[in-house]
Amino acid sequence: MTASIVVPALSARSVSVRLGDALIVDSVDLDVPSGQITALVGPNGAGKSTLFDCLSGALPAESGSIRLDGRDVTRSSPDQRSRLGIARTFQHVSVFPTLTVEENLRVGAEHRENLQLLRALFRGRRADEPRTPEIVESVMQRLGLLGLRHERAQGLETSTMRLVEIGRALCTRPKVLMLDEPASGLDDAESDRLRALLLELASEGLAILLVEHDLTLVGEVAQHLCALDHGQVLASGRSAELLALPDLVSLIGGTRSRRAAR
Ligand SMILES: Nc1ncnc2c1ncn2[C@@H]1O[C@H](COP(=O)(O)OP(=O)(O)OP(=O)(O)O)[C@@H](O)[C@H]1O
Ligand SMILES: [Mg+2]
Repeated sequence: MTASIVVPALSARSVSVRLGDALIVDSVDLDVPSGQITALVGPNGAGKSTLFDCLSGALPAESGSIRLDGRDVTRSSPDQRSRLGIARTFQHVSVFPTLTVEENLRVGAEHRENLQLLRALFRGRRADEPRTPEIVESVMQRLGLLGLRHERAQGLETSTMRLVEIGRALCTRPKVLMLDEPASGLDDAESDRLRALLLELASEGLAILLVEHDLTLVGEVAQHLCALDHGQVLASGRSAELLALPDLVSLIGGTRSRRAAR
């Protein structure tokens, strides 16, 4: 009999990150499986964004290991990790302000195409790969951005900028999508649309890692939860079980959206 082994799309083992003299992320274990949403929660300053920076390659791990799609990427550059299928958004929304919505998305798609060309030098291009304009068009359509395609990003509402940033990440056609507080600044209706989008993306096989303070949203979308405090994992496991623990919820210090009260 052969046992089937599920390899998480992204995993961290005993990862630590030091900034100056302080150990900001301390021996963290984390698994982010494909087709599911994993929430990373914890109070302000817990180290969530720092862990994101480390997983995406922007900050080095002092110790521990990171695997992406089965490969050890602990010492890989952000570009190498991007090539293997990781994409992220930032807590402080990061778009190119003077570029239009369409141009912002094209940056993501062209980045992907450039990485593919590099890969093609070694392996040959896959004929069935969609090209940049098709990808940009389909992502704009999916996110409801077609009507804003020629608008400059700098004039957009925060919620739309967040969508543009998610769109740019999706245009790289990632396997792992890391979102740092994507619901911040969104009203209830926008949060509802974000929730639907996340569930749809996960159902298509994407591995999603979500930093979020809104525990209502977390409870609605995330199968798994990892709670950090002072850089350490306080608890990890099934989110439904962990969110039912009042002591843990109060330590996490999250908010509940108004939707929960309705
Ligand atoms: N460059 C830096 N040098 C030293 N300490 C830093 C640096 N950047 C962040 N920190 C500290 O690291 C800790 C973790 O910060 P981080 O931004 O990762 O937390 P977070 O969990 O994302 O918080 P929040 O929920 O507020 O976004 C904080 O105490 C912060 O002050
Ligand atoms: Mg943060």
